[in-house]
Amino acid sequence: MNNRPVGRIVGVGRALGSRVVTNTDLEGVLDTTDEWISTRTGIRERRFVGEGESCATLAIEASKQALEHAGVEAGSIDLIICGTSTAPESMPSVACLIGEEIGVPGVGAMDLAAACSGFSYSATVAASMLRSGVASRVLLVGADAMSTIVDQADRSTAVLFGDGAGAAVLDSGDGESGFVDHILGADGRGAPLGRAGHPGDDHKLFQNGREVFKFAVRIFPEMVEKLLSRNNVAPGEVQYVIPHQANARIIKAAVKKMEVPEERVVINLNRFGNTSAASIPLSYPDIYDEMEPGKYIVTVGFGFGLTWAANLYRI
Ligand SMILES: CC(C)(COP(=O)(O)OP(=O)(O)OC[C@H]1O[C@@H](n2cnc3c(N)ncnc32)[C@H](O)[C@@H]1OP(=O)(O)O)[C@@H](O)C(=O)NCCC(=O)NCCS
Repeated sequence: MNNRPVGRIVGVGRALGSRVVTNTDLEGVLDTTDEWISTRTGIRERRFVGEGESCATLAIEASKQALEHAGVEAGSIDLIICGTSTAPESMPSVACLIGEEIGVPGVGAMDLAAACSGFSYSATVAASMLRSGVASRVLLVGADAMSTIVDQADRSTAVLFGDGAGAAVLDSGDGESGFVDHILGADGRGAPLGRAGHPGDDHKLFQNGREVFKFAVRIFPEMVEKLLSRNNVAPGEVQYVIPHQANARIIKAAVKKMEVPEERVVINLNRFGNTSAASIPLSYPDIYDEMEPGKYIVTVGFGFGLTWAANLYRI
């Protein structure tokens, strides 16, 4: 591997559900405590969609912000990809709704469902479309409203998840900055470890938390190591690792197995909970202005399916 970097991030945006739900708020409605949630997961608060909001409205808001931040006309986007598993309806896709709202009729638009790996999968597809020349400027989004598929009466899952969307505008780049390598993986034998229906139906999210935890702690450092070694990137050249934000203990245990120091691992789950496909791009606005050209960012997704995916990005 040593691909020419492609898919330079030129603008980022994010949106969160309007309802702030703290651990203390949950103490009032579930048999749980702030102490249990914060020590077992690292989460302190999360955001839920309010009246009139959905995964799609968050995705649209994040997309508009990313376009504005990039300073490009919506009309210059020639592909929209949205990683999500909580589209408010099976049809149309969230990506189609984004296209309509930003005013780009005729532009290719698709959702990609890979649970919490949805953004990492989508980034791989976006970069590959740019690399092949099928697209020249992509709007890449990760969005989920997990509160719409979680049983709010089940304390083992209700405390974990939140709602948000993150978006990035990618262009073909200058050959210096962009995605250089990717990993995609899935294993349907792990399907029983996490399942959920669609927003609004009765098939609420179920998971085997302990088994998912073990899987995540194994796969996360494995992917980082693989991407760095096969691209001859030294841990010291990595400015940020942005992992999927499932549990601070997963991140801590995984970091122990990696050569990248913990302070370079980006965390947002304390503020936003596990936002599934949104968890990685929600971090972009926090780091964008600090990114140092020539250094690397590793983004790492893992989740139900089972699915996993990671990307190596040269700043
Ligand atoms: C879900 C998770 C936080 C649970 O942590 P854990 O340390 O494995 O806890 P357990 O499930 O073993 O439960 C321990 C106890 O806490 C209790 N508990 C569960 N949720 C609780 C809550 N919100 N408040 C208080 N107690 C709770 C359980 O009932 C159990 O009680 P018991 O020992 O009397 O049976 C953890 O397994 C995890 O984060 N897994 C990964 C999940 C994930 O990332 N899923 C998304 C896909 S990426």
